[in-house]
Amino acid sequence: MTRKLIAGNWKMNGSLADNEALLRAVLAGLPATPTADVAVCVPAPYLAQVQALCQGTALAWGAQDVSAHERGAYTGEVSAAMLRDFGCRYVIVGHSERRQYHGETDEAVAAKAQRALAAGITPIVCVGETEAQRNAGQTEAVVKRQLAAVIHTVGHCVSEIVVAYEPVWAIGTGRTATPEQAQAVHAVLRAQLRAATPSERRVRILYGGSMNAANAAALLAQPDIDGGLIGGASLKAEDFLRIVAAAA
Ligand code: G3H
Repeated sequence: MTRKLIAGNWKMNGSLADNEALLRAVLAGLPATPTADVAVCVPAPYLAQVQALCQGTALAWGAQDVSAHERGAYTGEVSAAMLRDFGCRYVIVGHSERRQYHGETDEAVAAKAQRALAAGITPIVCVGETEAQRNAGQTEAVVKRQLAAVIHTVGHCVSEIVVAYEPVWAIGTGRTATPEQAQAVHAVLRAQLRAATPSERRVRILYGGSMNAANAAALLAQPDIDGGLIGGASLKAEDFLRIVAAAA
């Protein structure tokens, strides 16, 4: 069975003081050898702080975005090599908030995933449909198109990525997909990965979208849900730790 991954996405939240309190509480409650992999993806300016606090612990860390370019005149961008300098194990790419507010295309997301892989960082590739797309019966086509772009670009390295299925209508809304709805899409993604690589079992497919301490166990019990990408609930140590415990 694949080892599950519970990853927090702090989004644009935090401060030096808040981060320290949150991380100390998470670290205090985390078993020395958790039964799942656990990570937090934090705003880039706090990577040094998180690295200092989490180095040598069971809590890995990562960033929420990476440049598709290697280096150079790209004001405001952060490269994969820079993330590696701060010990990032993961980076989220293609979150729906970046696709929606920053116009990121499938091709740009794929380029970012490739850049992360080249730097030895695991990209957490987000896919997911809007409510209108779900209502129009386009869910499967949308997520397959988004994942196909990454498979096309990274080739056999697809076995090194993490996928996160995040229905846009479930993000930050309290409207979680039912375990059955999520499993149905995860099975589609799993089949697509199986066709792309003989090592598809290595690829974890996370669910994200209003996952919380109360609904995590039922979602994580589904056969193709290999973990969670947690937004709001990752900002409260107690809730985040309960989700980690549900991933045992
Ligand atoms: O990356 C995390 C997702 O956007 C989920 O956010 O748990 O606040 O709904 P949420």
